[in-house]
Amino acid sequence: MARSALLHVMTQAAMKAGRSLIRDFGEVQNLQVSMKGPADFVSNADRRAEEIVHQELSRARPDWGFLMEERGVVEGSDPQHRWIVDPLDGTTNFLHGIPQFAISIGLERDGQIVAGVVFNPAMDELYTAEKGGGAFVNDRRLRVAARKSLPEALFGTGTPFLGHGDHAGYLYELRQIMGETSGVRRMGAASLDMAYVAAGRLDGFWERKLKPWDVAAGAILVREAGGFISGMNGAKFDHEIGDVVCGNEFMRKALSDQIALAERKRTAAAQNG
Ligand code: IPD
Ligand code: CA
Ligand code: CA
Ligand code: CA
Repeated sequence: MARSALLHVMTQAAMKAGRSLIRDFGEVQNLQVSMKGPADFVSNADRRAEEIVHQELSRARPDWGFLMEERGVVEGSDPQHRWIVDPLDGTTNFLHGIPQFAISIGLERDGQIVAGVVFNPAMDELYTAEKGGGAFVNDRRLRVAARKSLPEALFGTGTPFLGHGDHAGYLYELRQIMGETSGVRRMGAASLDMAYVAAGRLDGFWERKLKPWDVAAGAILVREAGGFISGMNGAKFDHEIGDVVCGNEFMRKALSDQIALAERKRTAAAQNG
């Protein structure tokens, strides 16, 4: 498959950063780790990978700006284009020696995501998508799973953790969805969770309050693989808001309905004291 010039640039940046992450992954005990907030870690591996992605992309497209997890906003002179970069999605996995992490690069044009690359260097899986061009892993075309039965479905999610999210409300969702499906996975890197939906490995995925860099590339992978994505309660998906419910249209809707049902059960429980 011949990749477009744009995807080529994104791929090269992700793969170069991936080599740096793999070197650091081999010496994870020597990394300097600090906390940005409760259970919110960053290491020099994140920063090194981000530096590489920034350098590579700005060399290729000098006028385009950035939104990056660690460095924040870097303004460009082109008002139309912006790269959205998570240099290491799955930092907690990485720091624990778990090879489920990725570099995620999305491209925004006039506020819309038009291309995305997610690279898992430990598994050598490169996910790419461009608007209207389909989604791929390495050179294989992706398609979301076709399943239309909740009892057969396997979903991914992101559980809230120390200092983050509504733990009590989430437990209602988890109880509801665990009771209706074949299982729920919490794998720890949102960009890969969405890539797995695109690949048909997961039937769906939901998580709240992700950041633009967690979801930008994953969202276009899901859509270009024929999937659907919304926010909570069927709201239009917005990568700036970061709530995600996705899958094929049946699964996205079924997942949304289960989340709404869990919310009603929670309200009823609160009313009954
Ligand atoms: C995290 C991962 C995780 C999600 C967190 C994110 P990071 O990203 O995507 O799966 O549950 O909310 O912050 O910090 O490892 O890049
Ligand atoms: Ca982080
Ligand atoms: Ca992330
Ligand atoms: Ca990150």
